[in-house]
Amino acid sequence: MNRLARAFFFTLFAASVSAAPASAEEVFSSDGNVRVTVATDESGRPWYSVAVGDETVVGKSFLGLRFKEAPALDRNVAIVAVKRQSADETWTQPWGERRRVHDRHNELLALFRTTDEPAREFSIRVRVFDDGVGFRYEVPEQQSYGAVDIVDELTEFRLPAESTAWSIPAFAWNRYEFPYRQTRLADVPLANTPMTLRLPGGTHVSLHEAALVDYAGYVLDQRRSGVLKTKLTPRSDGIRVRTRTPFKTPWRTIQVSPDAVGLLNSDLLLNLNEPNVLGDVSWVEPGKYVGIWWAMHLNDKTWGSGTRHGATTANTKRHIDFAAEHGFDGVLVEGWNTGWDGDWFNNGAIFSFTESYPDFDIEAVADYARDKGVRLVGHHETSGHISNYEAQMEDAFDLYERLGVRQVKTGYVADGGGIQRVDEKGVMHYEWHDSQIVVRHFEHVLREAAKRKISINTHEPVKDTGLRRTYPNWISREGARGQEYNAAWATPNPVDHNVTLVYTRMLSGPMDFTPGIFNLLHQGPDSEFRVQSTLMHQLALYVVLYSPIQMAADLPENYAKYPDAFQFIVDVPVDWDKSIALDGGIGDFVVFARRERDGEDWYLGAISDEQARDLDVPLSFLDEGRAYEAQIYRDGDDAHWQTDPYDYVIDKQTVDRDTTLDLRLAAGGGAAIRLRRIDKAE
Ligand code: NOJ
Ligand code: CA
Repeated sequence: MNRLARAFFFTLFAASVSAAPASAEEVFSSDGNVRVTVATDESGRPWYSVAVGDETVVGKSFLGLRFKEAPALDRNVAIVAVKRQSADETWTQPWGERRRVHDRHNELLALFRTTDEPAREFSIRVRVFDDGVGFRYEVPEQQSYGAVDIVDELTEFRLPAESTAWSIPAFAWNRYEFPYRQTRLADVPLANTPMTLRLPGGTHVSLHEAALVDYAGYVLDQRRSGVLKTKLTPRSDGIRVRTRTPFKTPWRTIQVSPDAVGLLNSDLLLNLNEPNVLGDVSWVEPGKYVGIWWAMHLNDKTWGSGTRHGATTANTKRHIDFAAEHGFDGVLVEGWNTGWDGDWFNNGAIFSFTESYPDFDIEAVADYARDKGVRLVGHHETSGHISNYEAQMEDAFDLYERLGVRQVKTGYVADGGGIQRVDEKGVMHYEWHDSQIVVRHFEHVLREAAKRKISINTHEPVKDTGLRRTYPNWISREGARGQEYNAAWATPNPVDHNVTLVYTRMLSGPMDFTPGIFNLLHQGPDSEFRVQSTLMHQLALYVVLYSPIQMAADLPENYAKYPDAFQFIVDVPVDWDKSIALDGGIGDFVVFARRERDGEDWYLGAISDEQARDLDVPLSFLDEGRAYEAQIYRDGDDAHWQTDPYDYVIDKQTVDRDTTLDLRLAAGGGAAIRLRRIDKAE
């Protein structure tokens, strides 16, 4: 640039400075501890920051949206108006970790207008809770922005690069099913959310999103050290989000806590979702189930037809008998419908969702189940072919409704980016599980299921963003490395996996992890293909890994070998009045207490990583003036996940809220406790 040009440029620049003076607005949480600043800089770029007390948690981070055909909303803007409001209310969950949820926040709505002509507008709506922040973009209808294609979202999260991060990779073949990696934040290139961080000063943070509806999921892209940018998952046409004004984005969320367990006790994601749109949902039934499932993962049975077919009428009846005998609500049957033969991963186009294999009499097993007071749990594996599924969906749900099925497990086994969609012209397109198109598909499934009073448990899903509040029939999902990786076909989950899941994936919502494997050495004592936990750890998972539906995942014959330990699975509820994470550290251990709904018993679950540990657990959460019989299922003195996973002790003790329990967890161990209310005098 020559001197004249430079002078001209700076004059222009100065003019734009005076047209867009830097401005800033602040909003605090109700307790005054969390502060969000929303502002513009000298060149009119919108930004925000988050502080907790005196600590900057998210430093100055830019905001913005870019469109394919309309001008970007990312600079030359000024805050022209603000609106503030507050909420302090409590709402009720039809099912959940707690019945009553407290929503207390202060809100700032900042209206931005461009300083260049024609003036264009958007707003940032910020809600600040005592335990974190949510904000979203709202773009009104205006000239040049009718139908719009979003090509980039520029939201940043600037955090100390030296923070410790627990993350899984993004845009990878195995979706969300990777072991978590603990690294410096600076060493995380692309990560899925929720991502958990511990800042150098000890503050714990979770980055995620709430209410992902008709939009693309985002991943965190560290383009500059310590600056994570939202990268929206593209559709197969390269557009990130195809929408119309007025539109709003999902909430971008930042949960904060001085300690690890504080993140587990936060309801921020649910509070940022819209209330139930389904009306009466008394038909959504939490419960426990068994199934024709693990035998296929052990390769003892097959999903496809033949001599080892799992889903036969006789085998299903055997499982129904077992369920009825032990008070389980459901029996999952996988592989009953045609299409599984051969390599079912690639059978997405040929699955039938209504036609059974000849050795499975669906009417007869449904009648048999009904007579025994048990329900079949339906299964729709799509192998990721959403067009084949959508074409049959109404008939498929009609069939299940007629048979009295109230819950369907769906599956989308396909590599990341490999969801198959056939367009009107018959052309195949490949989509990501968290793209706008597949996000829409999942919502469509929920609505069709709800019409028939059916709840959905999605495997290979999009991440959970709290939509169970809006659609209470989205009862659970997978979305992480579950128990199935401890089967015959995979490298088992590392010994600290479950205690890492608690502080990462589980922050987003319920998981159908399928706990309760009792045959830990299913390939023999010398095989590395085993479950890396003690038996007591398996029991504790029913309390620790929240889901309103829980499977007793092992084979009936394996439960028969340990009837005393199995009793805990029979007793443990799945729906809670209260839940409290009491103690723990990310990837180390956790202690949870939960009080059952419609009853007075408490349950406690604790699990550990590869370290054995002694914990003092004060039972001060117990109800005042009550006594309890603690039925304690704990690791024995010699227990160790590797050398002695079956050393366990079950004992009883009378306790009340003044008792402190000494709990010893073995390496890879756990403890599960039922606190049965008794009268003081008893
Ligand atoms: C993957 C699911 O996670 C698993 O539970 C299921 O058995 C298979 N897909 C077959 O649908
Ligand atoms: Ca899976």
